[in-house]
Amino acid sequence: MAIAISQPISICLINQKGGCGKSSTCFHLAGAFAALGKRVLLVDVDPQGSISQAFFGSDAVEQMPVWETVAALFDDECNHIDPQQLIRETHIENISVLPANQHLARFNNPAPEQGGVMQFALREFLEPLEAFDVILFDCPPNLYQCSWNAMIATRHVLIPIPPEDFGTQGIPAVHQAVANARILNPSLRRLGHLITRTDSRILIHREYESRLRQLYDELVLRSTLPELSAFKVALACRNPVQMHAPRTKAAMRVRQLAGEIIDRISNKTQHREAA
Ligand SMILES: Nc1ncnc2c1ncn2[C@@H]1O[C@H](COP(=O)(O)OP(=O)(O)OP(=O)(O)O)[C@@H](O)[C@H]1O
Ligand SMILES: [Mg+2]
Repeated sequence: MAIAISQPISICLINQKGGCGKSSTCFHLAGAFAALGKRVLLVDVDPQGSISQAFFGSDAVEQMPVWETVAALFDDECNHIDPQQLIRETHIENISVLPANQHLARFNNPAPEQGGVMQFALREFLEPLEAFDVILFDCPPNLYQCSWNAMIATRHVLIPIPPEDFGTQGIPAVHQAVANARILNPSLRRLGHLITRTDSRILIHREYESRLRQLYDELVLRSTLPELSAFKVALACRNPVQMHAPRTKAAMRVRQLAGEIIDRISNKTQHREAA
């Protein structure tokens, strides 16, 4: 009898807008999935190394040699890469990190489609791994080689958007990048737009949220992540909010988001692109 091996959930958080909450969402979402007993791998594909620093501290991350970071996958001089050497467990049960630091910057080419075999570096490394239920990719604020590699390696794309003018400007470019990446990764789907850093007391935030929902309809997730200090405090303490303060509104909102993501992917909710 054939045994069905379920694929991990893989989600790339992408937006060329800086500061829209990609890393913060990855960090806290990892905590929510881990608390559900899922084995989570956070793939840091940002030369800023935000996710890596969140777990291991900035000094330790800056000192990592290239062969201990994700950059090793792109570097011809790093042969015979051992996953054991690259993927690090964290102090949180069920969360591991494939770290990044400044070494990645030289591979983040702005013309990714000309990258030849380099375009598949992440996919080739991750595909044989069976140890994870959820893989989250934290991308830099551009659509260059690092984000491109993540889109080739993932199944789903989640687009965090702050409900403001600058936050929403780059959406068509992100959609175009996803469409381009689909040529190499036909199973790539937009999981949706996630409204982040929103404050319901601010009129313009409420207006932008309603405009986004009108424009993109079901492509906008019902869950939103409000601007809450609990997210920042937990991050400063190097713990996802689910572990740091599970009873807070912030933790509850991330749990809701994790639940909605699982529902969308498992097709429990009607959604034209997620399944
Ligand atoms: N929902 C939130 N509530 C409070 N603070 C938040 C929230 N989301 C993000 N932040 C804070 O905003 C700042 C920017 O967020 P973050 O680093 O996650 O953005 P980013 O999109 O990853 O940025 P970059 O494009 O530079 O990688 C961080 O200090 C983070 O802690
Ligand atoms: Mg970031």
